[in-house]
Amino acid sequence: MHEQEQSLAFVPTMGALHDGHISLVELAKTKAAKVAVSIFVNPTQFAPHEDFDSYPRDIESDLKKLEKAGVALVYLPQEHDIYPHGKALTVKAGKQAKGLESDFRPHFFDGVTTVVKTLFDQVRPQIAIFGEKDYQQLLVISEMVQNEGLDIQIIGAPIARDEFGLALSSRNAYLSSDELEIARMLNQVLYKAAYDISEKRDENEALSEANQNLLAAGFDKIDYFSVRGHRVLCAAWLGKTRLIDNTEIPKSLK
Ligand code: PAJ
Repeated sequence: MHEQEQSLAFVPTMGALHDGHISLVELAKTKAAKVAVSIFVNPTQFAPHEDFDSYPRDIESDLKKLEKAGVALVYLPQEHDIYPHGKALTVKAGKQAKGLESDFRPHFFDGVTTVVKTLFDQVRPQIAIFGEKDYQQLLVISEMVQNEGLDIQIIGAPIARDEFGLALSSRNAYLSSDELEIARMLNQVLYKAAYDISEKRDENEALSEANQNLLAAGFDKIDYFSVRGHRVLCAAWLGKTRLIDNTEIPKSLK
């Protein structure tokens, strides 16, 4: 049998599936013979004050979407399947976890690496797909796979956006219609910052202008607006909803 015919590509999710998740499934289908998707709202990546309880859950609709997308296997673990010995964080995130998200959600990446390593051990894929939407997560998981010596190819998938450029997210369901209007400006502020930086404008000045633009647009609080590698990344609050987005800094046109 050809190698690709036997292979399994895996897309871990927390459900409340949208077209961003489905775009990962579509990419997975081009990489392997069969696609597996997991749905598990992972308690260890939420802090006690965060939205674990209210995180959107809609298994019926998720299963319909996955069936339509041609997924071969859906794994819906229960908490004791993932954490049979209690919710210890057994796989620590590495250097890529430093800064950005970790400055505001210090527990987050150890929870992610712990659940993803366990899911990998149980599902045993050759390939796993993660969205660039959660860019630091993609870096953290790639580093974890290397550190743990796992034979799994990690592939990043482009960010799926709505017609106004808003990055699709399960948490967008929290937004009121007024907040949705404001949320749709996030990508524009981000692109402008990336463009300004590529044009060799002072990076700090471009970032502080971006902060001001987000607040002027109606965002309530900005956790970070920063550059890492060749990307600009941000996290900002709109009411009780925390949104994240990022984009590549284009190569300078000059
Ligand atoms: P979740 O937020 O459900 O996202 C599952 C996967 O979908 C992640 O790889 C994420 O980056 C990707 N994704 C979400 N929105 C996207 C978009 N608009 N465009 C492209 N990809 C998108 O991320 C998690 O779950 C969890 O942390 C998980 C990895 C499952 C571990 O619990």
